[in-house]
Amino acid sequence: MSNPNVRAHSFDGIEEFDNRLPNWWLWTFYTACIFSVGYWIYYHTIGTGDQPYEAFLHEQQAAAARLEAQLAANPINDESLLKLAKETAFVAEGEKIFKDMTKCALCHKPDGGGLIGPNLTDDMWIYGSRPMDIYETILKGRPRGMLAHEAQGVGFVQRATAYVLSIKNTNVAGGKAPEPDAKKAP
Ligand code: HEC
Repeated sequence: MSNPNVRAHSFDGIEEFDNRLPNWWLWTFYTACIFSVGYWIYYHTIGTGDQPYEAFLHEQQAAAARLEAQLAANPINDESLLKLAKETAFVAEGEKIFKDMTKCALCHKPDGGGLIGPNLTDDMWIYGSRPMDIYETILKGRPRGMLAHEAQGVGFVQRATAYVLSIKNTNVAGGKAPEPDAKKAP
């Protein structure tokens, strides 16, 4: 073959063309090269753009701020607390508070089954099981050793309330027997 585009070498009789790459292909390549310079500067050199993890954090912060604003704007009542008890992320934050061994878990055990404080997973309540009852208990405390949590702020108390509402009536194994003055509540 005397094709001028065939390269000089041959391997076991296999020869190689050296054709010019099509223009459309070259342009996608050049554009990618130019784009990569801008990309590198934007994301890595001056760091204007968010890395995926930072973008995620910013979204989370924005969502938390929106929720906080919503909390501030809305009155606290049975309905609003029940609504919060259905927000998975909100309940998860309450769970973190509850299971902290320096907080609720210290007296109610991490699973809420009760130790120094009563079992919070049964249907027997001393101070009532309505969302506002639980909220008041956590906010103001109760005389026989339940601490007040006003100092931690309303957001803290709402999160803890949402979590208690989520474990109510789950009857964990090994839970403490009801207190003598507890009454059956829904
Ligand atoms: C220092 C121990 C202690 C800590 C910490 C504590 N509690 Fe209690 N809690 C108690 C005791 C004791 C009672 C019972 C009070 C009474 O009978 O007057 C109680 C009662 C309660 C009740 C009412 C139960 C009922 O039957 O009416 C709720 C709800 C509750 N606690 C939730 C919480 C949450 C949520 C936290 C964390 C934010 C928490 N507690 C932290 C000791 C504690």
